[in-house]
Amino acid sequence: MLFTIVSFLLFLPSLTSSSEAQTWIKGGYWYSGGQSSVIDIDSTLFTHLTFAFAYINNSTYELWIEPYYEPSMSTFTDIVRQKNPSITTLLSIFVGDTDYSTYFSTFFSMASQSSHRTSFIESSIQRARLYGFHGLELCCVKPNTNTTKIENMGILFDDWRTAIDRESKNSTRSPLLLTLAGYYLPSKNTASYPMESIRRNFDWVHIVSYYYHLPTMENFTGAHSALYDPSSNISTDYGIKEWTSRGLPADKMVLGLAYHGYAWTLLDPSANEIGSPATGPAVMPKGLISYKFIKSSMGCDGEKVGYKSTYVTNYCINGSVWIGYDDVEAIRTKVSYAREKGLLGYNVWQVANDYNWVLSKAESLKHTYRKGNKPTIAAAQEEGKDQENNRLLWAILLPTIAVVSLLLGTLTWFFRRRLFKWKVLVTRIMAIQPQKKTQYPNLQEFSFADIKAATRNFSHENKLGEGGYGPVYKAYKFWKDGKSMEFMDPLMDDTNSACKLVRCMQVALLCVQDKWEDRPSMLEVYSMLKNEIEDLPTPKRHAFAARKDMDEENYLKSMEENCSVNYATMSWDMPR
Ligand SMILES: *[C@@H]1O[C@H](CO)[C@@H](O)[C@H](O)[C@H]1NC(C)=O
Ligand SMILES: *[C@@H]1O[C@H](CO)[C@@H](O)[C@H](O)[C@H]1NC(C)=O
Ligand SMILES: *[C@@H]1O[C@H](CO)[C@@H](O)[C@H](O)[C@H]1NC(C)=O
Ligand SMILES: *[C@@H]1O[C@H](CO)[C@@H](O)[C@H](O)[C@H]1NC(C)=O
Ligand SMILES: *[C@@H]1O[C@H](CO)[C@@H](O)[C@H](O)[C@H]1NC(C)=O
Ligand SMILES: *[C@@H]1O[C@H](CO)[C@@H](O)[C@H](O)[C@H]1NC(C)=O
Ligand SMILES: *[C@@H]1O[C@H](CO)[C@@H](O)[C@H](O)[C@H]1NC(C)=O
Repeated sequence: MLFTIVSFLLFLPSLTSSSEAQTWIKGGYWYSGGQSSVIDIDSTLFTHLTFAFAYINNSTYELWIEPYYEPSMSTFTDIVRQKNPSITTLLSIFVGDTDYSTYFSTFFSMASQSSHRTSFIESSIQRARLYGFHGLELCCVKPNTNTTKIENMGILFDDWRTAIDRESKNSTRSPLLLTLAGYYLPSKNTASYPMESIRRNFDWVHIVSYYYHLPTMENFTGAHSALYDPSSNISTDYGIKEWTSRGLPADKMVLGLAYHGYAWTLLDPSANEIGSPATGPAVMPKGLISYKFIKSSMGCDGEKVGYKSTYVTNYCINGSVWIGYDDVEAIRTKVSYAREKGLLGYNVWQVANDYNWVLSKAESLKHTYRKGNKPTIAAAQEEGKDQENNRLLWAILLPTIAVVSLLLGTLTWFFRRRLFKWKVLVTRIMAIQPQKKTQYPNLQEFSFADIKAATRNFSHENKLGEGGYGPVYKAYKFWKDGKSMEFMDPLMDDTNSACKLVRCMQVALLCVQDKWEDRPSMLEVYSMLKNEIEDLPTPKRHAFAARKDMDEENYLKSMEENCSVNYATMSWDMPR
């Protein structure tokens, strides 16, 4: 009898979270290439956990799993279910390669042919079922401008859904979830997704809402996952609105949250606001640091931590190091925002970066929201209503549960223990093995060779002869006069690519405008170079023309630093 009561009590929390799971997603990624063990995840804090990543084989188009990580993938669901039996797990498929140029080519060549699609789809469903996942995620698909590619994506998604439904009927199991991780969409951007197909076929879209500003690319501190931005449109709020206006309903969106920040080296430690001059990354090579590291090793506590409600970001100052990241305050406000906007929930990259589960618990500490913050109060009231409903539900459910648990409790308990015991053992043995470090996917520097070549490596010959104005001033002048092609090296003469080169020049000129506010963000530069933004703004006269005292070498260097497109803006950094 005592045994049954114990198991009944154990059932209670799991029922609570499963009833919430339908209405509110608390999701997170576990990244296999990190150094954490699956056993260490406090899965009670989540409703959904996603294993990252599986990949696509570039010759067979079947799902490809790095052999080293296959054991952790195969035991993932069972292990996280031990602490939270009602957890839902997904397998995330990263559609890229380590190499930037092949990043999407594999994905698109898979999507373009029926037989390739079938290989991919069938193998993905088969693996998900084999390892007990409840769903599949397609990770990190960028918007595109090519209508053929957009159409192919749409067809792939239709096929995938059809296959999932068919498999569900045939196997009499509930269908696998199908989700997409998509990106922020700027308004000027003509790049898009097959929105109709996405709405039809995916259970939800996880909006990756970070990597907006990076110390490797901007010489000014920035809120890399700003919810709002008073001075630009690069903010999560703006991105969500854009997704909405293009037809994705709020209840199909999940908000991305980052458990990491970026560290900048301040040029002048007394200027330590958002947008203060910086000289590049600090602490880590790319400035990327996990929340865990920020809290455990950077002394980011108390006085040192600030909060900017206009951006919804925290920051921490340690000498000349400025770290922009989300602490409890920012996370809570974002989660409240997601509730307020009627989104489906949130999804964290990545759970292992939490520090003592402080961020993951931030949201469950209900009714402790900051005063004077309207959205959060509204959210708190909503929680109140939820709890009212929960009480009613319990009045009906309790007697039923009591009877059922009496019958099932003993059996379930007994079997669970036996079944999972050896699996825990297996995983512990695996955890003892030294973890192989893989930098997957590698972050690639996008070369600015095009621009360099186009300007003959910014050669002195190309100077207008106006003294300190320099070659780029010449480029500006040519550009203004509509004679950009005259500026290019004849060896590069390729009428087909003229437009592209002119475009690169224009982007380069935009990047060297005097005022930093005028310069495009890296997201925009990226879109511009990918032809995703059709109408480029007109560059103002560049800094070089204005600041004659700056020597050319420094200038060119800073231009490269400012404008070099690092794939990280669109990719997944893996902080440790
Ligand atoms: C892709 O599949 C082929 C055929 O099974 C295999 O030979 C190849 O090694 C796989 N590619 C990778 C990267 O594993
Ligand atoms: C496929 O992937 C392998 C391993 O990453 C690589 O060596 C090969 O060049 C790729 N093949 C194609 C056609 O992209
Ligand atoms: C669009 O994509 C298709 C299929 O990948 C390709 O054949 C075509 O050349 C692309 N069109 C443009 C304008 O890039
Ligand atoms: C249905 O499942 C059975 C095995 O359970 C399999 O042999 C058959 O091919 C499946 N049919 C379809 C249409 O997938
Ligand atoms: C943001 O986008 C809106 C249009 O959606 C535009 O009116 C506004 O000027 C933009 N703001 C900035 C700072 O770019
Ligand atoms: C910009 O940052 C780079 C390092 O990333 C540094 O070398 C350069 O001097 C900085 N420029 C300015 C104007 O601070
Ligand atoms: C500042 O950060 C360093 C690590 O970069 C750390 O060792 C030090 O304790 C921090 N300073 C304070 C005052 O916490």
